[in-house]
Amino acid sequence: MGNNTFLTSPPMGWNSWNTFYDQVTEDLIISTADAMVDSGLYKAGYEYIIIDDCWSARERDSEGHLQPDPVKFPHGMKAVSDYVHSKGLKLGIYSCCGVHTCAGYPGSFEHEFEDARQFAEWGIDYLKYDNCFHPATISSEGLYRRMNMALRSCGRDIVFAVCQWGRDDVHSWIRSTGAHTFRSTVDIQDAWKSIESIALSQLEKQSYIGAGCYNDMDILIVGMHGKGLNPETSIGGCTDTEYQTHFALWAMMSSPLIIGCDIRNMSDETKDMLMNPELIAINQDPECRGCYKLPTYGSPDAFVLLKQLTGNEWAVGFFNFGDSTAHVELHFWDMGLPLGNGAGLHFHDCLTHEDLGVKTESYSEKVAAHGCRVYRVSLENA
Ligand code: GAL
Repeated sequence: MGNNTFLTSPPMGWNSWNTFYDQVTEDLIISTADAMVDSGLYKAGYEYIIIDDCWSARERDSEGHLQPDPVKFPHGMKAVSDYVHSKGLKLGIYSCCGVHTCAGYPGSFEHEFEDARQFAEWGIDYLKYDNCFHPATISSEGLYRRMNMALRSCGRDIVFAVCQWGRDDVHSWIRSTGAHTFRSTVDIQDAWKSIESIALSQLEKQSYIGAGCYNDMDILIVGMHGKGLNPETSIGGCTDTEYQTHFALWAMMSSPLIIGCDIRNMSDETKDMLMNPELIAINQDPECRGCYKLPTYGSPDAFVLLKQLTGNEWAVGFFNFGDSTAHVELHFWDMGLPLGNGAGLHFHDCLTHEDLGVKTESYSEKVAAHGCRVYRVSLENA
């Protein structure tokens, strides 16, 4: 048992909900754990395999304990966690602060301490904790504090991932509950409009970002391409350019990186995007600072994001939310470099992995519709 400082950067993993909906089974989790390792995702930093809603039986057992659906998980949850752990991975599960989960399975309301002990016994490492069906007279804030206490005293390090959909100004109080991550938006959909609206809504909240409690902008849709059993998520699909922009935004904005596509069947483009070590490094930067819009010169639908990284380095993103190619321009003055200082900024392209050399005063680039460019920048004294 650690000291609850075990999560020092945004968690990275995979979640069943976007693609597999209520069809979550032992076979799916085992084959996904295999794929996580075989594809290289584990090596790239992804470690949590998270079972979302619909894993349990419709009723608790005669002693009041949660029990997995015997058809979906014929060997029980401990067998699944043993397998996942044998691959070096960690296992996540889902419950809810109400009497039912959002899909109508038993919730943890008034069972918090026994459920936390049960999760610890099964070897669970991560709990996604939802917000449906709790009594109107009790706030989810109080119920999250309760589950936090239960988890922190259950004898096992378990990441506490609250799902509050951005309601009730969650960003302003969530740190008081002890949660490690908090869902800050409605459910994502496999469509450009969804990426755009989630990103814009959370840019305003970047000042609440900090190590230890991460703003969860929801499961990634990268690589879904309109496929999947979840009728609310799978509504059309995006282009690879749009998925790249989505991944770059989630990385720069320090969101947990939780994959939602079927990782057993990924295209090479999807793999490259999800395993880009340079975007992952920006996401996992130890200082965990938010990113902020800089004044942008050029096309009106484009903007520049700046994220201070540890040491003498910055991540700079050029994003184009418009429907045609944009010209985006960054003036180094806006990053803190005085005009005529003589020093230059060294640019490294995190998408093409090219070294672009030292630039002075400003840098501009064309950015495709719905596209992005991301650079790692450092100051080179003249
Ligand atoms: C929603 C949640 C989704 C998923 C679903 C399961 O409330 O936002 O991410 O967990 O419940 O029923």
